Amino acid sequence: MEKGVTMEKLVALAKTRGFVYPGSDIYGGLANSWDYGPLGTELKRNIMNAWWQRFVTGRGDMVGIDAAVIMNPKVWEASGHVEGFTDPLVECKKCHERFRADQIDIAKACAKCGGKDGFTDPKNFNLLFKTFIGSTEDTKSVAYLRGELAQAMFVDFPQVLMSSRKRVPFGIAQQGKCYRNEITPGNFIFRTREFNLMEFEYFVHESEWEKWFEYWLEQMKSWLDFCGVNKEHLVFHEIEDGERAHYSKRTIDIEYLYPFGQKELYGLAYRTDFDLKRHMEVSGADLRYTDPKTNEKYLPHVIEPTFGIDRTVLITLLEAYTEEQAPTSEEGQTDTRVVLKLPKALAPFKIAILPLSKKDELAAMAQPLADRLRSRFATDYDETQSIGKRYRRQDEIGTPYCVTVDFETLNDKAVTIRDRDTMEQVRVAIDELETWFAQKL
Ligand code: GAP
Repeated sequence: MEKGVTMEKLVALAKTRGFVYPGSDIYGGLANSWDYGPLGTELKRNIMNAWWQRFVTGRGDMVGIDAAVIMNPKVWEASGHVEGFTDPLVECKKCHERFRADQIDIAKACAKCGGKDGFTDPKNFNLLFKTFIGSTEDTKSVAYLRGELAQAMFVDFPQVLMSSRKRVPFGIAQQGKCYRNEITPGNFIFRTREFNLMEFEYFVHESEWEKWFEYWLEQMKSWLDFCGVNKEHLVFHEIEDGERAHYSKRTIDIEYLYPFGQKELYGLAYRTDFDLKRHMEVSGADLRYTDPKTNEKYLPHVIEPTFGIDRTVLITLLEAYTEEQAPTSEEGQTDTRVVLKLPKALAPFKIAILPLSKKDELAAMAQPLADRLRSRFATDYDETQSIGKRYRRQDEIGTPYCVTVDFETLNDKAVTIRDRDTMEQVRVAIDELETWFAQKL
């Protein structure tokens, strides 16, 4: 990728600036577990809230739910996950490291030990995370942490229909944690065993599935545009027969050109009436919908757009990370400025208030100003180090506007606003700041 971004630089910035840290760090970490720090939490929330506003509260044909992570195990039997949610696994005959058979060339040496003894035959490995309910650990108390959000939307379908009084076509959305016992987690927050997902099931009449599939594909593209993703970094991969998940009749994987290769970002699937039909068969509940106009009674078909939240955080950071030459405080000198050109709506802080010096009279103006703006815009306050260093720190965390309170402010009751991307500065009266920012943010 251009702009100087590598995974090493991004991971280092994420750690030092408090976006994402290795999990359980003081105990030596836990492989492939990551914690969102203060800024990463804000970025992730901004992504989730923007998505919810765009796809749920901003529309009349969508409702949200927030279901339990542990569901009745029969759900996962009916959905086919207990039997079919598997990845093919092979093991190096020398060091016993395990790999996903579809991700390595088994004719080559082992990537871990370099051994050429070969690999075991592929064996299907189930990705569902098992747990036990209650105090006994026997087969009767086995349960699963949800491997996808979708199943609750199918199982709760009749209750949502009854309580929300929605009419087909309509969707049920959810955001939350999912768990998969991945064989090969890795690449920072790209593939982990515990991850965040947002997805919806959009229920349509079978005769209209193609129209809605195309519609949601366009909506997913528009969302990616909002996240600041360059179209040239995306690949739309039509998944062939035999390669799709067990429930899908058509799938497009939206892939992204990560620094570690072209890999899946999001998915769009036509799940037919597979899930509702299976839950109806196994539970005995009638999940059919009655069209109030035609009285036709049928099982709706489903279009499912699915968006990994952690992968959204990752690509948003990758897209935003920019290195450029910028002037220093020394006359005629430049150095490398690292700036996260995040979409303003997603930036953790929108504004930083920076008094030019730590002098009491400047802080006495700057601190109340920060408190005032904070009630409407996410606002940081920083009075340590030189103003140049503070500007660079705010650039690195993607703050769109820095507001400098200087000695002139004491007289003219105005401040200097610096734009993150252009570094241009304008003088604005303190009384007009809310109006000015409301127009820009
Ligand atoms: N309900 C459909 C479903 O779960 P999926 O393609 O298996 O489909 C959905 O997963 C999305 O979840 C992926 O497109 C990806 O963004 C994200 N995802 C899947 N496995 C992941 C993992 N181990 N770590 C992080 N994100 C993951």
